Amino acid sequence: MASVPEIFQSMEYGPAPESPGPVQEWLERKGQRFGLFIGGKWSEPGRETFDTLNPATAKPLATLTQANSADIDRAVAAASKAQPNWWAIGGHARARYLYAIARQIQKHSRFFAVLESLDNGKPIRESRDIDVPLVARHFYHHAGWAQLMEQELPDREPVGVIGQIIPWNFPLLMLAWKIAPALAMGNTVVLKPAEFTSLTALKFAELCEEIGLPSGVVNIVTGDGRAGEALVKHPDVDKIAFTGSTEVGRLIRQATAGSGKKLSLELGGKSPFIVFGDSDLDSVVEGVVDAIWFNQGQVCCAGSRILVHEGSQERLVAKLKARMETLRVGDPLDKAVDMGAIIAPVQLEKIQQLVRRGEDEGATLWQPSWSCPRDGWFFPPTLFTEVSPAATIAQVEIFGPVVVVMTFRTPSEAVELANNTRYGLAASVWTENINLALDVAPQLKAGTVWINCTNVFDAASGFGGYRESGFGREGGREGLREYVVWAEGRRAGVAEAQRARGAKGESRAVKSRRGASATPSASPPLRPSALPPIDRTPKLYIGGKQVRPDSGYSIPVLDRSGKHLGEVGQGNRKDIRNAVEAAHKAAGWARATAHTRAQVLYYLAENLAARAEEFAARLQTLGESDQNEVALTIERMYTYAAWADKYDGAVHHTPYRNVTLAMPEPIGVLGVVAPADWPLLGFVSTVLPAVALGNTVVAIPSAAAPLAATDLYQVLETSDVPDGVINIVTGDARELGRILAAHDDVDGIWYFGDAETGAEVERLSAGNMKRTWVDGGEPRDWLDPRTGAGEEFLEQATQVKNIWIPYGE
Ligand code: NAI
Repeated sequence: MASVPEIFQSMEYGPAPESPGPVQEWLERKGQRFGLFIGGKWSEPGRETFDTLNPATAKPLATLTQANSADIDRAVAAASKAQPNWWAIGGHARARYLYAIARQIQKHSRFFAVLESLDNGKPIRESRDIDVPLVARHFYHHAGWAQLMEQELPDREPVGVIGQIIPWNFPLLMLAWKIAPALAMGNTVVLKPAEFTSLTALKFAELCEEIGLPSGVVNIVTGDGRAGEALVKHPDVDKIAFTGSTEVGRLIRQATAGSGKKLSLELGGKSPFIVFGDSDLDSVVEGVVDAIWFNQGQVCCAGSRILVHEGSQERLVAKLKARMETLRVGDPLDKAVDMGAIIAPVQLEKIQQLVRRGEDEGATLWQPSWSCPRDGWFFPPTLFTEVSPAATIAQVEIFGPVVVVMTFRTPSEAVELANNTRYGLAASVWTENINLALDVAPQLKAGTVWINCTNVFDAASGFGGYRESGFGREGGREGLREYVVWAEGRRAGVAEAQRARGAKGESRAVKSRRGASATPSASPPLRPSALPPIDRTPKLYIGGKQVRPDSGYSIPVLDRSGKHLGEVGQGNRKDIRNAVEAAHKAAGWARATAHTRAQVLYYLAENLAARAEEFAARLQTLGESDQNEVALTIERMYTYAAWADKYDGAVHHTPYRNVTLAMPEPIGVLGVVAPADWPLLGFVSTVLPAVALGNTVVAIPSAAAPLAATDLYQVLETSDVPDGVINIVTGDARELGRILAAHDDVDGIWYFGDAETGAEVERLSAGNMKRTWVDGGEPRDWLDPRTGAGEEFLEQATQVKNIWIPYGE
């Protein structure tokens, strides 16, 4: 044994192994075989089984069951049966259960940490100090949301049965991120863990039994992608929450299109790690360790692209190499190990292949001089320099301990390089200049921005992506939205509309909340002199200019009796392309102050009011006459002028020495296919919330009555709305909706129209994973400010970015 002076000489670590004993005993007690946990009962291990292996030794840990579609049916049925009562017991009762889960996790924290490290290969230091404490924190935090739901979310209800599919990189943590908010909001779940790492989920099922969680509230089904697919396609599942690869996320987007299922996707990333010239390089080096060598780089938000100021590159690379030389790769249960094993041979091969590709494409590889253990699947920390921004290793998610270094000269070049990816999950910014950091953070297209820190997470802060990193948030108040729907009661106005429609057989017999009938016959006759000429052809409105349609065709607009009222341009793919380009050019709108945007919208209302009579006349001619429609449209413009500077973010209480700013940001370029009901009010109700919050819009007016919207561009022109902020393309709304949905430079699309096209819009959106809001042809009461305006629209028009800012010396 080495003497103390000898130890001080070399400063080498001795082994500090954590005992796997209690976990091994548990596995043995279970006969190393597991069935499924459905409706509070364990099934016998199925006919089709598979082994789960320890990645550090390549030896099997247990045999698990491949759930088949009958199993998924049973699990969904159990969850459906349990859901009404789980909701009915109320927030306080649910809070007690979630609190009990949190306590149980804490009481068994070491067991869970060891099991996780054995099954996943991550160092015990991480599972013990990061994963498991965050799991407990998530259940505590959401016990609180369950308690507060009735007061804080009075208009919301649970979605129902949630299908949850999670990956292998943070097995128990992803389970917690999925299950805690779902249960808090009164939903029940069927969760499928990843096939490589199901053991902590199965142990969690035992925990649910121990605390007496009602049967069927949590169901755990194991198996590979086939089980996931069956869950995704199950008609009684109301929402899918998925974390995993962008590839599978895309399949799920397509499979759920048109099904009415709610969807949240947390997908891949290629996150930038930006190092400005004034940053503290020693902290940066430790940041890189946490960014890319945490969990062997198998982290969706891993900082895998270091963008460093060219003046600092040499020093940073030298420091990194020195640090890499001291990293320790080995037995995950050794408490002194920095990096454990790669999950499976297939992942190891993928990493090796991409590393070879990096070398073939001319980048320079550096790895430490020591070698990795040979039992199990290990890969050393790897650094690439001389990397071109277009290189495969700079673009593709490697999901391993491999980082690339590129340089920049100016902050704007740093932002450009950072955003030069199809992903948008996270970013780190390193500088001692807080002004610079806070200037850069909003410009980064990423759901989380860490300033002078990286890979920090908390239940109080939302996490999720922009662009092809998916949509939806997990954690924070913003994460709750994924697990609720607007309460049925709010739709009372719609129900009334439906009844009236049934009775009268016409589509606009909605009583206005002011008591005035909205039917055409109720409007007073108009003075003919107020009628605008009907024989002109309104053009498209693109980039602030009236333009002729590319097709050279116009289409007639008829009233209900078939009378020819006028014509509008028949927009096509090329017009949409031009409009999208114009909308991108107007991106400065997002940076205009909210006060400026509010003023423009008030001015819009003022100018519409000046022409109210003319618009009322137009609506009358269209057979859509309701005196109120113009007045209500003006009021709605006021509503969004009001909201423009009031839809605030939040400062989350994350338990570190930092503030976390949750900022609602515009989505970018939004395609909006306006509803057929209420040609003017419907158009304004859908375009203005988007615009108020900084999006630029390509709007398709209702095919039934586009003239009211095209008239509006004259008002836009006189109201200081900057060119390109609102673009209007008329034509076949279904066809134009499909084109917008398939367009890769459109960041989000709202489709208010028939269910069939809505389904197609969802399917086509999978190309760039744009956000969608599709109403599936459901009627909506546009007159009622609770259903025709408000928070639902504002939420849909924004995505939340969380910016973490540490403080203290
Ligand atoms: P994956 O996306 O295939 O697996 C994630 C989960 O989806 C697993 O539970 C899997 O069984 C399930 N699944 C697979 N096919 C499905 C389908 N058609 N329908 C429904 N569920 C399905 O990820 P995988 O194969 O484990 O890893 C592949 C690559 O994905 C990795 O190399 C990595 O680049 C990336 N990845 C990204 C993650 C992230 O958090 N962003 C997590 C895991 C993997």
